[in-house]
Amino acid sequence: MTQAVAVLGGLDVLVNNAGNVRAAPLEEIDVADIEAMIRLNLLAPALATRAALPHLRAAGAQHANAALVGIASASGLVGMPFYAVYGATKAGLTRFDEAMRRELIGSGVHVATVYPGPVDTPMMATTHAGADLGYGLRPVGDVVAEIMAGLEARRIDINTQLPERREMEELNARDPLALDATLAPTLAERRAAVSTYRSI
Ligand SMILES: NC(=O)c1ccc[n+]([C@@H]2O[C@H](COP(=O)([O-])OP(=O)(O)OC[C@H]3O[C@@H](n4cnc5c(N)ncnc54)[C@H](OP(=O)(O)O)[C@@H]3O)[C@@H](O)[C@H]2O)c1
Repeated sequence: MTQAVAVLGGLDVLVNNAGNVRAAPLEEIDVADIEAMIRLNLLAPALATRAALPHLRAAGAQHANAALVGIASASGLVGMPFYAVYGATKAGLTRFDEAMRRELIGSGVHVATVYPGPVDTPMMATTHAGADLGYGLRPVGDVVAEIMAGLEARRIDINTQLPERREMEELNARDPLALDATLAPTLAERRAAVSTYRSI
């Protein structure tokens, strides 16, 4: 952080973007992979934010347009089978951002959380879950444009999921057992589709 501030001459924005995933039945995920997800997806944002805060506060005091941005996930909004740990880290990041937003009221540091659904990035290279299971990939450029528009509008939640994924989110909020029933017949297919899914 010190090096970044020295090179950039200050810090206006921190984006907690780095993330990794291993999806599988919990008992088949290596302990080291569980720890790697928690460290990168949750511990790193907490430590990076802690280190960045003095600089973000200074920028916020100067121009009231500093920002802390968390790249969470649709997996942080709805607990999906075989994504228990990844989803937990992303749900954790969501609450972290929410708490920080309230800690930073009046500081000139805007806090926003992004909830992408599946995006066509290297992270998705080893998953075989496709559109039929709700994992149709969006092009990076489309998602980035929505994120930038959301930030410019100073939104606090930027949800880039496609409509069918949002329907699942709404059903989960309204009637979680109905979503269980919808997912149940697809469990074996979902399990097979993520058996080699790992970006760590
Ligand atoms: N792609 C999706 O469908 C999707 C959906 C929802 C949320 N997200 C989230 O979006 C964020 C970006 O993911 P992406 O799709 O762009 O994945 P990606 O292409 O795999 O990029 C992952 C990023 O994390 C960095 N990274 C990985 N391991 C690291 C480590 N141990 N230490 C420091 N940096 C590390 C990588 O840095 P290097 O390039 O230096 O390796 C890279 O910049 C992640 O938080 C991910 O969870 C992605």
